[in-house]
Amino acid sequence: MTYRVGIVGTGPRRRTVERGGGFAIARVQADAWKTLKDVELAAACDIRPENLSAFTEDYGVAGYADYAHMLRDGQLDIVSVCTWPGLHSGMVIAAAEAGVRAIHCEKPMCLSLGEADRMIEACEANGVKLTVSHQRRFEPMYLRAKEWVSSGRIGRITDLRGRISGADADLLSWGTHWIDMFGFFLDDRPAKSVLAVTDTESAIIRYGHPVEDRAVVLVDYGDGVTATVEGGEDLPTPEFRIVGEAGVIRIGDVLTGWFMGEGPASIETHVRAEVDFGDSYAAAFRDLVSTIGTDQAPVLDARLARNATEIIMAAYASSNRTQRVVLPLDTDTFPLRERSEFKRK
Ligand SMILES: NC(=O)c1ccc[n+]([C@@H]2O[C@H](COP(=O)([O-])OP(=O)(O)OC[C@H]3O[C@@H](n4cnc5c(N)ncnc54)[C@H](O)[C@@H]3O)[C@@H](O)[C@H]2O)c1
Repeated sequence: MTYRVGIVGTGPRRRTVERGGGFAIARVQADAWKTLKDVELAAACDIRPENLSAFTEDYGVAGYADYAHMLRDGQLDIVSVCTWPGLHSGMVIAAAEAGVRAIHCEKPMCLSLGEADRMIEACEANGVKLTVSHQRRFEPMYLRAKEWVSSGRIGRITDLRGRISGADADLLSWGTHWIDMFGFFLDDRPAKSVLAVTDTESAIIRYGHPVEDRAVVLVDYGDGVTATVEGGEDLPTPEFRIVGEAGVIRIGDVLTGWFMGEGPASIETHVRAEVDFGDSYAAAFRDLVSTIGTDQAPVLDARLARNATEIIMAAYASSNRTQRVVLPLDTDTFPLRERSEFKRK
């Protein structure tokens, strides 16, 4: 069987350097879909005619100006949602109700826990597999680090630390990847509580929605395990640390493990080249396709992305309330929208 894939939101032909729109992740996804044997990249839609025509020209697919039209006429089995976050939930729900069998949605999953739940419910009700682009779960550096953790090289994990910086250093655009990695390294155990400060002084709108200038987030996973995210444009280079009772793993430009013990084997360093986006997306898509029509959950299952969404929304709620937020989160809205800075906009 050949699965027909349709893409929602093509992005421009020429990617912008800064993120916050114009990254054209759809083209990364399209290239990845094309590497799968049992898949045909069949259609794309975009409301900007110049983006759509550039994409249909480059990929030889049918083009639609309206996603509802593509869902109706495209005879699609799979839909990739590559638009900005505020559009994800409506598009995912429409695709699920249109009868496709699998949907891949870009990160961040959406802009509230309520939206996340409605997306998951619509997919479950229609027997649709839903995945979200937390593609680090397929990247070799993270897989190697996970092997070290699973084989006991750093002992019991006590502490995880993620730093984000640069052009899109907010919890929704970038932090979602580190928060998903907390789940990955802790075998997706549920978090207990979140305490955070998110500074929104500049009232930044990125990807069409409010984001913070800076954030410090402390997630308590119980049993003495905590995780922190520190974010801000001007912070040093992003990195991720996994601290255990018998060692530390650092994932930065290189993957480094400091292991307790004697001799050179106690320190191991693996230098890695640039992350290949395409390879991790292709692996994620192969995995998603392999679960269609089965009871298997895909690796990038949206229910895991819901965990990240809950932590992010709890961080914003915690900062609004100046209190620790105990999970499950008691609000299904987007707490940043309640800030006076954004109400003025
Ligand atoms: N996984 C990753 O590492 C990664 C990297 C970059 C971006 N992203 C995510 O990908 C998403 C898209 O970001 P981007 O920078 O590629 O966006 P983009 O601005 O390049 O492309 C979005 C496209 O959607 C189109 N669009 C808008 N409304 C539409 C509608 N109603 N119907 C159809 N098309 C519509 C726009 O015209 C545009 O062409 C974001 O959620 C972003 O966070 C993920």
